[in-house]
Amino acid sequence: MQTGSTLYDDRTGVSALRGLGAQARGASGRLLPEIWMQDGAKRVEQALARLLCAEDDGETELMAAMRYATLHGGKRTRALLCLAAGALADTPAHMLDDVGAAIEMMHACTLVHDDLPAMDDDVLRRGLPTVHVKFGEATAILVGDALQAHAFLTLASLDAPGDNRIALVRELAQAVSAEGAAGGQAMDLSLVGKHAELDRIVAMHRMKSGALVRASVRMGALCSIAEDAAHAALYCALDRYTACFGLALQVVDDILDATADTATLGKTPGKDAAAQKPTCASIMGLQAARQFALDLLRDAGEAIVPLGQRAERLAQILQRANVYLSAPYA
Ligand code: IPE
Ligand code: IPE
Ligand code: MG
Ligand code: MG
Ligand code: MG
Repeated sequence: MQTGSTLYDDRTGVSALRGLGAQARGASGRLLPEIWMQDGAKRVEQALARLLCAEDDGETELMAAMRYATLHGGKRTRALLCLAAGALADTPAHMLDDVGAAIEMMHACTLVHDDLPAMDDDVLRRGLPTVHVKFGEATAILVGDALQAHAFLTLASLDAPGDNRIALVRELAQAVSAEGAAGGQAMDLSLVGKHAELDRIVAMHRMKSGALVRASVRMGALCSIAEDAAHAALYCALDRYTACFGLALQVVDDILDATADTATLGKTPGKDAAAQKPTCASIMGLQAARQFALDLLRDAGEAIVPLGQRAERLAQILQRANVYLSAPYA
């Protein structure tokens, strides 16, 4: 895999952040952003490797393909959001690692299916051939199915009270339901070749990408903070944060699809235009879309100000997203 400050292999955005002068505040005693993100991504990847391990009697092709889909790169944004939200309370790291791994399994499932010929028909993901290119279309469909099942199995098997596990399972299921990612993907396909107003694109983005981002943060919090009247303000702040950040993530993805190159993306660029998909970038223009994303990231930051220092890691994730908008656009 290629090295350098690419989006797909520079999982923690460390080199990109360095380039923009990320703040080092080691003297405060807190982990530097690049260190906790690097450490967090590594721990979640170890959890993924453990949870998707081969049986003693050998690895099936399906399991090999599942590991291929999950263990080779990715920025781990959703897992890091979960860890960052878990830091709002003293959540045990081992629990967050498994919850983060479950979220990454589900995310990988959506990517594998998104790349299928019947969907976006993509041949490159995270700098490697897509799962259906490498293992065949039938296996890729099953990889998505099995990853989804493993995500729920992981949550159901957590060493945590039943109520917590049910809340986590419900949260993840909702995020990929017809009201979440699946519904958003259906809307995405229905808009191919059509004109769409911005509010429709925004609604689609909130479902296809925003819902899992929202769940990632809420799941990190739900590990140890009950969603009750005493914590209503906290969950409200988190929802405002994710509403902005989830949308920003997909707007940035749309901008990069139109502006970045294959080596930077680890994906084939220009796919949205080639498939005649309306995006924020195509509707608003690149400069306006970039400003839209920047405004969203700023609003996300403002939403968690009332949470104080304990939300520091959630704020640091926004800084990393900002990096991807630093490139000049035509
Ligand atoms: C890609 O997500 C699909 C979107 C919803 C934008 P990411 O850009 O987070 O993909 P990875 O996990 O880093 O590969
Ligand atoms: C996919 O959006 C969102 C998902 C739910 C997976 P895209 O189709 O724009 O994601 P990429 O560009 O292929 O990563
Ligand atoms: Mg797609
Ligand atoms: Mg796609
Ligand atoms: Mg895209």
